[in-house]
Parts: sequence; structure tokens; C-alpha cells
Amino acid sequence: MKFFLDTANIELIKEWIPTGLVDGVTTNPSLIAKEGGNIKDILLEICKIVDGDVSIEVVEKSPEKVYEQAKQISNLAKNVIVKIPFAKEYLPVISKLSKEGIKLNITLIFSLTQALLVSKLGVAYVSPFIGRWDDIDIDGMDLVKNLVTMKKNYNFKTEILAASIRNVIHLQKCILYGADVATIPPKLLDKLFNHPLTLQGIEKFDNDWKKLAKTDLFN
Ligand code: G3P
Repeated sequence: MKFFLDTANIELIKEWIPTGLVDGVTTNPSLIAKEGGNIKDILLEICKIVDGDVSIEVVEKSPEKVYEQAKQISNLAKNVIVKIPFAKEYLPVISKLSKEGIKLNITLIFSLTQALLVSKLGVAYVSPFIGRWDDIDIDGMDLVKNLVTMKKNYNFKTEILAASIRNVIHLQKCILYGADVATIPPKLLDKLFNHPLTLQGIEKFDNDWKKLAKTDLFN
């Protein structure tokens, strides 16, 4: 399973890269809006420091402009994935860009059939949003489960990139259901390291070792 960081914050990305866990980064207009500075510089820097796919979303609205902007975004760096929101009017654009070999991530996927349509067009990723289903009291994890079944049934190459992951349970279910990728907010990634029994265990090992009053493990 690949881990992407769901952020446009360069400091946070730099903090996580040495762990070896960062297989890529996803950004979107909301995440970019949280950062100060020159947007192009920020995106170029992210692409430079990340050894993996970096999703950058189009902000244009008309299909023609979305197509043009997708081309511009894809030219920013070799590891760029162009993110396009799911919409009927963008399907011809998605189809054309896919045929041109541009790697796409279709975002704001909320149904199995939306995912099927764009998987048929050969996009690199589909991004089902989990937390936003939960926000309206519907279990968003069912979508991920169904997409994994769809992928197996039809042998699609499109990777299932679970997004809008808000808690550890979401992530645990993504692992069990077999999502290809989970894009995780850095704050949530932090939580994976805080298991009370592990912390207690380390403390006990330390205390027992100190009781031996030795300075070296082998002497
Ligand atoms: O990757 C998509 C993600 O950024 C959306 O998350 O929490 O705004 O639903 P959220």
C-alpha cells in the first residue's frame, strides 16, 4: 500500500520524507489556499523533493481551459499527476488526455459508477472521498470496498487512492479492503505512532535495562 501525504505544506513534507513512508503527495485548491507564497514555486518544490507522484488539481472550469491547464500542469515536472474533478463535461477531456499519456487522478469520486466510467478511460488514479460521506452520516468506507471489487472484477489498472481520510479507523479499513493508496493528512500520520502499550513497553525495557547498571550491551 502506498502512502501519500495530503498536504501542500513543504515543511511537513520535508519532515516526513526521511521516514521513508512518503510515496507521493496530493494537493487540491483548498490545501494550496492554506499556504502562503508563490503557488508555482511551492508546487515545483514539492515535485522536486518528493520521490513519487504529486497530484496537482486544475482550477479552470470550461472543458477547453481544463484541457489547456492540464497540459500546463503536466509539464511542470515528470512526477506530476493532473487532478481533475469528476464531471460529465470533462469526460472527453479526460479521455483525450489519457490517450495522450498524461497521468490523471480523478477526484471527488462518490460512487462506484463514477469510478467505473473514468477507470474505463484508463486514468492513473480515482480518488474516493471517505470522510465527506461520513459527514452526511453514510459510511464512506463502503465506497472503497466496492471500488476494490470493481478493480478486481475488471482487472483495471487504475489505482484506488483513498482520500478524505480523517481517522485511524478509516486507514485501518483501507488496509483491510485493499486500497492501493491512502492519502493521509500529516496530523493523522502522527497518530499512528502513539500506541500507549508500545510507549509503556519501551519505558519498561528502559527501566529494566537501567536496573542492570551496565553501560554497554555486550560487556
Ligand atoms: O485528498 C482529499 C482531501 O484533502 C479532502 O479531505 O477532509 O477535506 O474531506 P477533507
